[in-house]
Amino acid sequence: MGGGKGGIGKSLVAANLATVAARSGRKVILIDGDLGGANLHTCLGVPPGQRINLTDWFTERIVDIEKAATETPIKGLRLVLGALGNAAQTHTTHDRRVQLLKAVRKLPADLVIFDLAAGTDRSMIDFFVAADDSFIVTTPEPTSIENAYQFLRAAFYRRLAYSMNHTSSRDVIRDAMDQRNERGIHTPADLLSEIDRVAPDDSERVRGAMARFRPHLVMNQVRNADEVKLGFSIRSVCHKYFGIDIDYVGYVNYDDAAWRSVKERRPLVLAYPESDGARYLRRITKKLLGD
Ligand SMILES: Nc1ncnc2c1ncn2[C@@H]1O[C@H](COP(=O)(O)OP(=O)(O)O)[C@@H](O)[C@H]1O
Ligand SMILES: [Mg+2]
Repeated sequence: MGGGKGGIGKSLVAANLATVAARSGRKVILIDGDLGGANLHTCLGVPPGQRINLTDWFTERIVDIEKAATETPIKGLRLVLGALGNAAQTHTTHDRRVQLLKAVRKLPADLVIFDLAAGTDRSMIDFFVAADDSFIVTTPEPTSIENAYQFLRAAFYRRLAYSMNHTSSRDVIRDAMDQRNERGIHTPADLLSEIDRVAPDDSERVRGAMARFRPHLVMNQVRNADEVKLGFSIRSVCHKYFGIDIDYVGYVNYDDAAWRSVKERRPLVLAYPESDGARYLRRITKKLLGD
């Protein structure tokens, strides 16, 4: 659950998707990947206290990540708390993040939802591109949409870079990330033809990685039909300029019940199940889970 900008509703969407999935009988683990400003526990009504958290795993105070999965008031839903208590941002290395992702895949759960922090920080992009299904959350505000594009673009190139064997093709990707690059790469087609030229053996892999990158888009805090349609515009822009096929999975209206539920420390779908916001969140989850 990424999105670039802070305060747009990533955690709200993550907490509610997780709740709906748990209520459908699935075993769900929600991970608060915000290593600087964790707050999912508050959305779910879990007092942080002295609980084991993700920092404890990164600092090797615990070895088994499952030990950090705390029960929540919602049956079937456990939470791995984010970094807490230490003012400094938890330092992570690429290797440690890869290890974490491996460990997460072994967790005894039907579904693991990873909530990310704001920004296009390397660690957030790593978590985003490793997911089977990745979600980008935005609001209709231009600043939020701009950050969503930046995030998607960075994630896309990182994903391509991981798919390559040759340093020469990685160099192409690195250059392509700069929109004013000297190689004249502006579109995915330009990128592919440059890879074909410098490292033809990587072409197939890169094409495969491009095709498999299909993030889901959630438009949050919409207030009218035009704002709902913005999701489709983002989809077309991503396709045209970045060659990314995103799946516009749904929208959530701006709903006073949403912030009220946060104040009450309960997921919106439980605190105000009849609100429009809750209905849209249930709809998105059901679509994703195929229920
Ligand atoms: N659909 C919505 N309608 C009204 N307020 C919302 C909605 N989504 C989020 N909010 C408000 O925005 C705040 C920030 O949301 P949060 O999920 O914590 O953002 P992020 O994780 O992206 O930083 C919430 O506490 C809530 O008050
Ligand atoms: Mg958040």
